[in-house]
Amino acid sequence: MNNVPQHVSIIMDGNGRWAKARGRERVYGHLEGVESVRAVTEAAVEAGVRYLSLYAFSEENWNRPQAEVDRLMELMMEAIRNEVKTLMDNGVRFVVLGNRARLSATLNKAIDDLMEKTSACGRMTLIVFLSYSGQWDILQAMKKAAAERGSEGVRDMTAEDFGKYLVTSGIPDPDLLIRTSGEQRISNYLLWQCAYTEFVFTDVLWPDFRKPEFRAALETYASRDRRYGKVK
Ligand code: FPP
Repeated sequence: MNNVPQHVSIIMDGNGRWAKARGRERVYGHLEGVESVRAVTEAAVEAGVRYLSLYAFSEENWNRPQAEVDRLMELMMEAIRNEVKTLMDNGVRFVVLGNRARLSATLNKAIDDLMEKTSACGRMTLIVFLSYSGQWDILQAMKKAAAERGSEGVRDMTAEDFGKYLVTSGIPDPDLLIRTSGEQRISNYLLWQCAYTEFVFTDVLWPDFRKPEFRAALETYASRDRRYGKVK
């Protein structure tokens, strides 16, 4: 495939609606959503994508019913436990970014272990955004920059300097952002990092988004003309 994006990011949306359409509990949609995560990770590795990032849980998602929050955290734990070998066998480095202070000690420990075990994997990096929001990221970056540089040091900062304080420091900005389920909004995701990202919106609900749908999004991306505000 030509013109493969280096970094693909996905707002996985529509699990609840997928379950509801089948007369099932919302968690059933999340369970099936994990299968899509597996399929899309595989498709991304196969296509030669270097960074795949997934918006798995936003800062705002903490406001969902406690039972759903608990189940989502459990699912994350299970996925981490079950996928260690597959990730390592496929050369996938696992990274979690977000407000980790809000996650349980057990989950943080499991995340640290998996990050450590896969730290030398170089084929693709899978980034899972957990307890993340774009505004939170910008704020924490601003506070860190101010503490480190003082008001004098902050005054002459460039956008590039600022990017080093975001949790995504060292990771290239997404080339392509996919959002499933028909919604067309950014929902407090990578606000700073999506400055020149190409967006692909699809009506497909996340549990139905598998390899063919992912490849179709890559093809749409390949046909886009990126100008970064310049004239070609
Ligand atoms: C959006 O659907 C989905 C989520 C908020 C959770 C996504 C989580 C997973 C797919 C599970 C675990 C992830 C990993 C990385 C192993 P929604 O609940 O907002 O659906 P709705 O808009 O139809 O209500």
